[in-house]
Amino acid sequence: MDCEYFGKCGSCTLYELDYEAQVAYKKDFASSLFESLHVKDFEVFTSPSSHYRGRAEFRIWHTGESISYAMGSVNKKGAICITSCPKVEEKIAILMPLLLEYISLHVELRERLFAIDFLASSKGLLVTLLYHKKIDITWDELAKPIEAKFGVHVIGRSHKVKRVLSQDFIEEELTIDNKNYLFHIIEGGFSQPNRIVNEKMINWVCLHVKDTHDLLELYCGHGNFTIPLSEKFNNVLATEISKTSIKSALKNCTLNGVTNIEFLRMSAEELTIALKKEREFKRLQEVDLDKYNFSHVFVDPPRSGMDEESLAFIAQFENIIYISCNPLTLKRDLEFLKNTHTIQNFALFDQFPNTEHLESGVILQKI
Ligand SMILES: C[S@@+](CC[C@H](N)C(=O)[O-])C[C@H]1O[C@@H](n2cnc3c(N)ncnc32)[C@H](O)[C@@H]1O
Repeated sequence: MDCEYFGKCGSCTLYELDYEAQVAYKKDFASSLFESLHVKDFEVFTSPSSHYRGRAEFRIWHTGESISYAMGSVNKKGAICITSCPKVEEKIAILMPLLLEYISLHVELRERLFAIDFLASSKGLLVTLLYHKKIDITWDELAKPIEAKFGVHVIGRSHKVKRVLSQDFIEEELTIDNKNYLFHIIEGGFSQPNRIVNEKMINWVCLHVKDTHDLLELYCGHGNFTIPLSEKFNNVLATEISKTSIKSALKNCTLNGVTNIEFLRMSAEELTIALKKEREFKRLQEVDLDKYNFSHVFVDPPRSGMDEESLAFIAQFENIIYISCNPLTLKRDLEFLKNTHTIQNFALFDQFPNTEHLESGVILQKI
């Protein structure tokens, strides 16, 4: 990938190496970071080197009456104006200048607009315009033509206000193990930004689960892994803290005809306490936790990794699958788990070319 803003825009930090060299660099980094864990080999899953991001947020920079997209600068001082970004999916890249031109021409749409978020899937595109001013039905009428003109769904947001012009979600189709799955992704909920690598991650996990009974999943989001994995298990208990994501997860079960998953909206910490029977939760009154015979636990925590209590709890499981978006907290958690488990497989997923970011997957089995 080439970009005229390399060295100026803070979004890409690995731009002096070609793609192959970047992948080798990340593999070397992982080899030395995880040296103390004696990983035999890393499987590496690559990405297209450009147009890989389905989720992107840009600030809007105002100069008099004109506006442009802006990103934080590489030295973290201020912003730089950009006209394009080769990381975003083609459909976002094509829309960006056209949308900006349209908004520039309409004062009410342009004024106090401070950011534009794009969410693209294989089936659609959702655009969110964020304002530092109150927006209402007058704004709806002005923004509505954007939907028909560009074939997108538009949402307007300002403080405590969300204006949904047609829908606040997009549908995504993923192919896992030659089977198609539909996902309903609501704006504002977490979704994996790189569709191609996401499919590779889910496939990899599905390939490595064996001798299954029931699955416990912590940090499940909208069921990205849960839905395809549910086919490999008798029953699944999955938890997630975000109300938005749980709403999508329930919808995703219906969309895919899945009936063996119980989704809970609670933190991993709370569910751990409940499973250890240290406290009763009102939200669990209708849930029979004792019916589960867990053979596997799957975790995909945020960048901070797992809390100590939940980590100690999952160490009791025969099989652990750990997907991580932060190698440093993964290393911390694996240093703990190595007392009870051995690493069977370790994969590196290059979700974000041209950045230092590294996504990992680890399959662990009890010693
Ligand atoms: C890296 S995302 C993974 C989501 C999902 N596995 C996917 O692939 O889309 C982490 C998820 O953990 C959720 N989360 C963050 N802290 C949590 C907590 N303490 N307990 C449960 N879920 C949490 C976030 O809302 C987010 O959906």
